[in-house]
Amino acid sequence: MNRVRETGTPKVLGDDAALDTIEDTDLDTSHGPILYLEDVTVSFDGFKALNGLTLYIDDGELRCIIGPNGAGKTTMMDVITGKTRPDKGTVYFGQIIDLLQLDEPDIAQAGIGRKFQKPSVFEQQTVYENLELAMHTDKRVWPTLFAKLSGEQRDGIAEVLQLTGLTEQRNQRAGALSHGEKQWLEIGMLLMQKPKLLLVDEPVAGMTRQEIERTAELLLALEGKHSVVVVEHDMEFVRSIARKVTVLHEGAVLTEGHMKEVQRNPKVIEIYLGA
Ligand SMILES: Nc1ncnc2c1ncn2[C@@H]1O[C@H](COP(=O)(O)OP(=O)(O)OP(=O)(O)O)[C@@H](O)[C@H]1O
Ligand SMILES: [Mg+2]
Repeated sequence: MNRVRETGTPKVLGDDAALDTIEDTDLDTSHGPILYLEDVTVSFDGFKALNGLTLYIDDGELRCIIGPNGAGKTTMMDVITGKTRPDKGTVYFGQIIDLLQLDEPDIAQAGIGRKFQKPSVFEQQTVYENLELAMHTDKRVWPTLFAKLSGEQRDGIAEVLQLTGLTEQRNQRAGALSHGEKQWLEIGMLLMQKPKLLLVDEPVAGMTRQEIERTAELLLALEGKHSVVVVEHDMEFVRSIARKVTVLHEGAVLTEGHMKEVQRNPKVIEIYLGA
């Protein structure tokens, strides 16, 4: 059954002038969900990577998405971030922002951050400088970087350093960090832009067990402040952070619920967990 969005007029934002009009108040989540995907279909040469996908993410929720290779998990993130356009369906951010009307930079600007698997930090800069750079989405202000920060900006960086566990490494070059630390720094860089919704695709791939546990703590600490969608194959990790879990299969939702229920579901065992 579809969740109802009450506002009838979508915000159409085609140019920069229109984008300037996106205010926090536009992101109306008063009815619960921050993200609505309804009946979304994506075809690649006739093959349906997403096939009538309907999914809702609540404001402040931490949602795990699992499913076999090729289920459409990354394609779903591509649709939300504007990288891939669906053939049909609707995608709303809050009640009134129609994401299908926005391009990738505008979607990021509207408050959706995405973490790709490979960390892309500035290796030559320190951890602190990376966070500072991430604060400035407008590349035109880069020449004025490392000028004096306001107290509020410094507090923001300190908060993210603490959250990501990188306070001690703040003056280290990012290139000298471990794989796990780079991943946390990149999450930290996304957080500097204060995203409402954070999409994280396979965050713990290549991490040690200890790094995985630390990543779980980090994502759990975001709950309530940001909505977070995590795609991951590592079931031990998923179990450690899972609230509601969605299982994707062949481009649609196979089942959704608490991890315990999902793990017992015979269909899920057959197509995924039993493999
Ligand atoms: N640009 C593309 N062109 C053609 N086919 C694509 C494209 N992107 C994805 N696909 C196909 O769509 C299907 C879904 O891919 P997707 O990457 O979304 O799966 P996934 O659930 O993220 O899988 P994994 O767990 O392996 O990352 C796959 O069969 C894939 O080969
Ligand atoms: Mg994928």
